[in-house]
Amino acid sequence: MKKKSYFCTIGIPIFCTLLFFGCSRERPLSEKGGIWTVYEKECQECHKADGRSSLIGRWFFKAPDFTDTKWQDNASDSRLIIAVANGKRKMPGFKGKLKDEEIVDLVKVCVRSYYPPEE
Ligand code: HEC
Repeated sequence: MKKKSYFCTIGIPIFCTLLFFGCSRERPLSEKGGIWTVYEKECQECHKADGRSSLIGRWFFKAPDFTDTKWQDNASDSRLIIAVANGKRKMPGFKGKLKDEEIVDLVKVCVRSYYPPEE
C-alpha cells in the first residue's frame, strides 16, 4: 500500500514530465546535433523550428512553409542551395558566412526533413 502511494505522488508526475518533454516540439533543434546547430543559429529566427515560418514571415516576406509538400515537390535542390547561398529577396545570402557544404546540408538535411512533415 505504502509503495503504491509513493508511486502516485512521485512516479506519475515524473512520468508525465518526461512524456511531455519527450513529445514537446520546443526542444532546441541543436539537440539533434550536426548541421541543426547551424540551422538553429542562422535560420530558425525566420524559418522557425517547425520550418513553417511565422504568419508574418509567410504573408509579408513570402517565406516558404517547408512542410508544404507541394512546395517541396516544386523546389529543386539546386534552386534552394542557390537561394540560401546568394539570398533571395528578403532572405540574406549565406555564401562566405557558411561553408558550401553547410549550405548544401542545410537544404538536403534540414529543409528536406520537413517533408513529410513530422507529426
Ligand atoms: C531574415 C530572415 C531569414 C533568414 C535568417 C533565413 N531565411 Fe530563408 N527565407 C526567408 C524568406 C523571406 C524567404 C522567401 C524568399 C522569397 O522567395 O522571396 C526564404 C526562402 C528560403 C528558401 C526557399 C528558397 C526558394 O527558392 O524557394 C530556403 C530553402 C531557405 N529560405 C532556407 C534558409 C536557410 C537554410 C537559412 C539559414 C542558413 C535561411 N533560410 C535563413 C527568410 C530568411
